Amino acid sequence: MAGLARAGIILAAGIGKRMKSAKPKVMHLVAGRPVLGYVIAAMREAGVDRIVVVRSANADSVRDYGSKEGAESVIQDQQLGTGHAAASAASALANFSGMLVINNGDMPLVTGRTLSKAFEAAERTGLAIVAFRPAEPGAYGRVLLDDDGYLNRIVERKDAAEAEWGVPLCNAGTVIADAQKFFRWAAKLKNSNAQEEYYLTDVPAIAKQEGVRCVVVEADPLEVMGINNRAELADAEAEMQKRLRTRALESGVGMQAPETVFLCSDTALEPDVQIGPFVVFGPNVTVRSGAEVRAFCHLEGCTIERNAIVGPYARLRPGASIGEKAHIGNFVEIKNSRVEEGAKANHLTYLGDADVGAGANIGAGTITCNYDGFDKHRTSIGAGAFIGSNSALVAPVTVEDGAYVGAGSVVTKSVAGDALAVTRAEQREVPGWAKKFRKRKSAEKAKRG
Ligand code: UD1
Ligand code: MG
Repeated sequence: MAGLARAGIILAAGIGKRMKSAKPKVMHLVAGRPVLGYVIAAMREAGVDRIVVVRSANADSVRDYGSKEGAESVIQDQQLGTGHAAASAASALANFSGMLVINNGDMPLVTGRTLSKAFEAAERTGLAIVAFRPAEPGAYGRVLLDDDGYLNRIVERKDAAEAEWGVPLCNAGTVIADAQKFFRWAAKLKNSNAQEEYYLTDVPAIAKQEGVRCVVVEADPLEVMGINNRAELADAEAEMQKRLRTRALESGVGMQAPETVFLCSDTALEPDVQIGPFVVFGPNVTVRSGAEVRAFCHLEGCTIERNAIVGPYARLRPGASIGEKAHIGNFVEIKNSRVEEGAKANHLTYLGDADVGAGANIGAGTITCNYDGFDKHRTSIGAGAFIGSNSALVAPVTVEDGAYVGAGSVVTKSVAGDALAVTRAEQREVPGWAKKFRKRKSAEKAKRG
């Protein structure tokens, strides 16, 4: 039966009551990516082409995210249970023949490897489920095997007899079956159980009546844990961070204290990048070989080119692009700006909507005043320009190549190449003033007692 087409259904219409959130459960983030994204990615890795996401009528975010990831979605109008949810995809897949995986949407740590194994197992009899042995079986459905090691039945915790509570093998929430047979079985589900729901977990018992045996594939408990509340979401985050750090270290990224570095699922770090302690990566960051990100940086939506140095304590926001060998130092914030090769902004600076030419030097306390309360404007700083400390560059404004801006200036007009612009008041000196001042003040104080 090998080589059959593969389709997938992701169950994501549940209200996720235990999350206590207005956001659909599957849209909560793990390492910067919605939980749903991981299930889609694992299915793709396992060779699934068509994916149908079952969502609730008001979950537009699920529809939109799914469609961005190439998955279609169908609505389950009433949340009548996981079996009912899977059956809601029947008409979308009416013309599909091949093997179908039905997976809970709340399983961010599942891998393509495990789903592939389950597909192979299902191709033996036409039906398989994934099971695991959690540390605490808790609310999971219990998996009861027959004498030959096939599935006897799954019993939900709320329907289980006390004697069954101790069963260590639990249902992960993955079913693989011949697609059209599955929909036929699902149509026969009844809701005569503790929760009055149509359970996906009752499908194998219906198949058994037709003589179809269900293979049980055992998975790593970490991989198939379901996210039902905030604590479980945080556990999944911790595990995902471990995976991402391990992957980065294995690919040649240096990290002094990996356990303090937080990565995103899409963080792109080339070999020989060095990351200091306590660095947080938001979505869409690329760091190229030889670059160093020092301690306590917060980075999102930015690119750091080869051999640049960023931090400690720098914040790079979306659209920041740091050129080769550039230096971005402490308490520097950069947004939507290009900093070209070898330029330096080493201390206490805000660069927003700016272009900084190669080798330019941005002094401590420089601010690009990019916003007038209505619109954003650009600042352009030429190659080799020197901006003196504590200068405000009021955009739109250009400082041409090689120009100097004197410290403490407020620059509102463009500065020509190689010129000096200074806008501060001229210095005045009063000889002996300080001595006289001190004398007068101490005399006054002595008189008061
Ligand atoms: C389910 C399984 C349980 C298993 C556990 C693993 C059933 C009946 N129980 O329980 O055996 O151990 O997962 O995590 O299948 N959903 C819908 N529509 C519905 C109900 C649920 O789309 O009407 C979706 C949810 O959004 C979720 C998934 O199905 O992604 C599972 O639902 P959930 O309520 O989390 O089921 P569990 O109680 O965890
Ligand atoms: Mg669940």
